Amino acid sequence: MFHLSENSKKLNVLDKTGDIIDNISRQPCVEFIILPFYKNITSIPSNLYRNLLNFINNCNEKSIFIILTSPICAVDFCSNIHNHLFLKLWIAVKTKYDDISCENLPSSHSSLLILTKNKDSLKHTKTRIAYTYCPYCKKTTKDYGGKKHLYHEFGTLISDVWRHISISYNEYPSTIIDILRDLFGLDPYINLNVYDQRNIYVDNHCTNKYIEYKETVNNINKSNLYNGDCIEILKSIPNNSIDFCFADPPYNINKKYNNWNDGIDIKKYFEWCDLWLAELARIIKPGKTLAILNIPQWCIRHYHFLSSLMDFQNWIVWDALSLPVRMIMPAHYSIICFTKGKPEILPGITRKINSMLEETSLRTVSDKYCSRMNCIEERNSLKIKDKENISDLWWNIHRIKHNSKRSDHPCQLPPNLMFRLISLFTNTGDVVLDPFNGVGTTTLSADILKRIYIGIELSEYYHGISIKRHNEILSNIDPFRKLHNNIPIAKNSRVSRLNKQCYIVSKKNLQLEVKRIKIELGKMPTRSDIIQFGKYPIEYYDKYFIDWGEVTAAAKTTGMTEYKNSNQDTKQFSLFDVIKRNEH
Ligand SMILES: C[S@@+](CC[C@H](N)C(=O)[O-])C[C@H]1O[C@@H](n2cnc3c(N)ncnc32)[C@H](O)[C@@H]1O
Repeated sequence: MFHLSENSKKLNVLDKTGDIIDNISRQPCVEFIILPFYKNITSIPSNLYRNLLNFINNCNEKSIFIILTSPICAVDFCSNIHNHLFLKLWIAVKTKYDDISCENLPSSHSSLLILTKNKDSLKHTKTRIAYTYCPYCKKTTKDYGGKKHLYHEFGTLISDVWRHISISYNEYPSTIIDILRDLFGLDPYINLNVYDQRNIYVDNHCTNKYIEYKETVNNINKSNLYNGDCIEILKSIPNNSIDFCFADPPYNINKKYNNWNDGIDIKKYFEWCDLWLAELARIIKPGKTLAILNIPQWCIRHYHFLSSLMDFQNWIVWDALSLPVRMIMPAHYSIICFTKGKPEILPGITRKINSMLEETSLRTVSDKYCSRMNCIEERNSLKIKDKENISDLWWNIHRIKHNSKRSDHPCQLPPNLMFRLISLFTNTGDVVLDPFNGVGTTTLSADILKRIYIGIELSEYYHGISIKRHNEILSNIDPFRKLHNNIPIAKNSRVSRLNKQCYIVSKKNLQLEVKRIKIELGKMPTRSDIIQFGKYPIEYYDKYFIDWGEVTAAAKTTGMTEYKNSNQDTKQFSLFDVIKRNEH
């Protein structure tokens, strides 16, 4: 699998054997440490962090520290070093594990943490991963829609989910090393030092310590939507009475909610989280799942609190496929799953499938193939085996992109995510609870899948929207249908959106016009260049775009073609040569 890093001077790789503490390098380097892939925190040896901290404290102040391990060990590492290093990125890497279970979600990712000793922003090269092509229609695996002019001909910027490579947890990760050499191949880094510690701190495969819980309560047989504070309302729900709790809390990252300050002091935020987490742990039935969705950094803290009350079950990575806006774009969320006592066999993995909706939610088109409807239909008619069962790495559920699918809420979830979670963790008739129900994505999905639902939402406005949408189900109307000309008031964008028909000239044509002027002038046009040489009024640019970066986006890149070129590999290398030539 190809990647391309602009202006990279590949780092030398030095394999350091023996004890990490005997190998301290004083120069600014990339220190890549491979730890065992522990499945449980209780199996991590106590001297591991003592040695690692000693090593980190003695390394150069400018060095980058990269840790490869299982998500559980990654959480523990972050908690143990939080006074010494800053976590810059949590990357999920596709991984083959041996322990394929037929009762649980197969594990299929590991964690690559990127950390530094200082708060400065992370320096790395602009790295792209090559497009992949559907073996059937030969078009790009991902459909880039009407935005092809904004993409690079080689591929997209690398994100924080590396599915383009696949490592094996017990082999040397040479594919990761190949990328890191280029990604950090810039000043001041001298070498990439690799410390494989897997044989030193051996994983002793300690199993979970399950506590016995006997009591379950089955007296909730009516759905309900509450308007109020979740902590207060949860107190009225009996112990051990819910089959699946799902929480998508405010992330405290300054989203514009109707009545909620999403930017409070972080310590206070977690104290508040602990209160509702404790309530959810109390009401979930033994063996059933409590799932929390949040950004990976916050899940570290949730993990710690929950593991004092419950048993860890799964760490799901949801690659929500955002647009590439930064150098390495954070594109994924974590969904951490806990059970009280031994987890029950997952219903969605073992039961007979009840409906087409459950079937499509629990199986996915293999990531080798594209998801274009006409291609899927042709593959189906030819009986091509293009489906696979889900694992704990979810990549084909997109966050809501179009206003036509959006209610008036700044961060509602896509229904397909909730269909999958509910189908996986529950059976028909089970009780599903969401304490942050927003405009009802969870309870509506539960309703459609014939589960009993309980939704709690603080905002009267969002609560009202969810009631309206549940009433639509009663009238046989799909609450998730497309609403044409829908312009929600709540959005996080700085530019007021216009109806499509209001654009006198499409945004794409305006961007391509800027590109034309750039080629003519031989430089990136300024605002006055566009007034002087452009064929469209400058007001269109002022009105339709967020900023000047968006105006010039097409002029900054090559644009892509959708079809696989027969000499694609040669093309990739010649592009690399062009970049090299430009350097000299
Ligand atoms: C991330 S959003 C959830 C969106 C939801 N998953 C959906 O798809 O519509 C978080 C929601 O929690 C609500 N909220 C914040 N504090 C709350 C509280 N103390 N009790 C109940 N809801 C609360 C906010 O109003 C917001 O709608």
